[in-house]
Amino acid sequence: MATNRTFTMLKPDSIEKGNIGAILEKINASGFRIVAMKMTQMSTTEAETFYAVHSERPFFGELVEYMTRGPIVAAILEKENAVEDFRALIGATNPADAAEGTLRKLYAASMGENAVHGSDSDENAQIESNFHFSGREQF
Ligand code: CMP
Repeated sequence: MATNRTFTMLKPDSIEKGNIGAILEKINASGFRIVAMKMTQMSTTEAETFYAVHSERPFFGELVEYMTRGPIVAAILEKENAVEDFRALIGATNPADAAEGTLRKLYAASMGENAVHGSDSDENAQIESNFHFSGREQF
């Protein structure tokens, strides 16, 4: 069943470049309501767990190093058709392939450092939200 929530992280490169405000502005302007949010830094073990599905991929070590090198902003977003609409807003994994106006086209440097995460399914949105937020942090 489709839900109306998705999970996002503004990745360390977005925080390093001072892009938190600009990205949140775009997210709000695109009709998403923030129902949970925090700045946090993942430990190596947490990043390995979060990205366990990619553990056999050649870029796994690089991915974990990148995602733990500094703080992230984690958030849960609400909107009708949230998962699909947010993936459209962030654009393709590789910013070189991302459509004009998408967050990755605007703010991402490369396939590895691609600025923003968006859940790929309703099921993962729920798992990822609960990974980062307790029940009383979700509004
Ligand atoms: P995301 O789709 O949010 O989650 C998985 C991440 O793995 C992806 O963003 C990229 O940051 C990273 N990733 C995916 N493919 C590659 C690749 N070919 N090389 C390096 N990093 C990648």
